[in-house]
Amino acid sequence: MSIEGKTVVITGASDGLGKSIALECAEKRVKLALLARSEEKLQSVKKECEAQGGEAEYYVCDVGDAAQVASAMSNIKQRFSTLDILINNAGIWAAGPLESYSIEKIGALFATNTLGTIYMTRSAVPIMKQQQSGQILNVMSIAGVETKDAYGIIYTATKHALHGFTETLKEELQGTGIKVMGFYPGGMATNILKAAGIDMPNSGDQSMDTKDIAKIIVFVLEQPEDVVVDHFEVRKFTK
Ligand SMILES: NC(=O)c1ccc[n+]([C@@H]2O[C@H](COP(=O)([O-])OP(=O)(O)OC[C@H]3O[C@@H](n4cnc5c(N)ncnc54)[C@H](OP(=O)(O)O)[C@@H]3O)[C@@H](O)[C@H]2O)c1
Repeated sequence: MSIEGKTVVITGASDGLGKSIALECAEKRVKLALLARSEEKLQSVKKECEAQGGEAEYYVCDVGDAAQVASAMSNIKQRFSTLDILINNAGIWAAGPLESYSIEKIGALFATNTLGTIYMTRSAVPIMKQQQSGQILNVMSIAGVETKDAYGIIYTATKHALHGFTETLKEELQGTGIKVMGFYPGGMATNILKAAGIDMPNSGDQSMDTKDIAKIIVFVLEQPEDVVVDHFEVRKFTK
């Protein structure tokens, strides 16, 4: 089932994996709603998507802020009238022992990684229910299904919470025509460490190229109507 002509909402679309997904979708001539906090970066992604053949609009939105999510979703509904695919991708990372986290940092990690997805999904579900169709793809991490000190204790907690949310949502939405998919990637070459203030390249032997991952995501979204890739993990393979 082609995604051509579908309305695709992507959070965290200004950089990293979200940007790669947006560009991959744009090649399929979809209608894109791009969300993130940085307007300058969103403007440039919108232009790149349009150059690829997609229709794109951006919405400056902190997904951890429920009022901003409600306003963005209302504007998206007005602009595109349908909402076929929601990709909850926005995320931040942090590391360190538990006592090194400020209360604000813990709140920020849960707000973006967990509440952001919950708020976006809560706004999208009524629209999709009315359409009797839709796809919701939550980007988590292998840190959402396994634990390692190196993944970061709070980051791991945010992604495990999202895993529980995703699995329950699947059950809750059975019979509505809405597909729910949980994606659990390993390390990808992005600016996620830099955004966390860590001066370490997130590339090389341990990291995957987001362009490859974006292709996999589009493949998953283009499955026949009666097929869902409901839980998928993708990891770096080294010879
Ligand atoms: N990179 C990895 O190794 C890796 C591994 C497993 C899972 N993941 C997951 O993959 C997803 C994408 O990460 P990435 O590696 O592509 O990171 P990235 O390059 O740092 O991009 C993160 C994106 O999220 C946006 N964002 C951050 N906080 C936001 C907020 N509060 N509201 C709205 N947008 C926000 C950022 O834009 P603004 O700053 O402009 O808002 C940016 O567009 C995340 O969920 C991450 O947890 C990443």
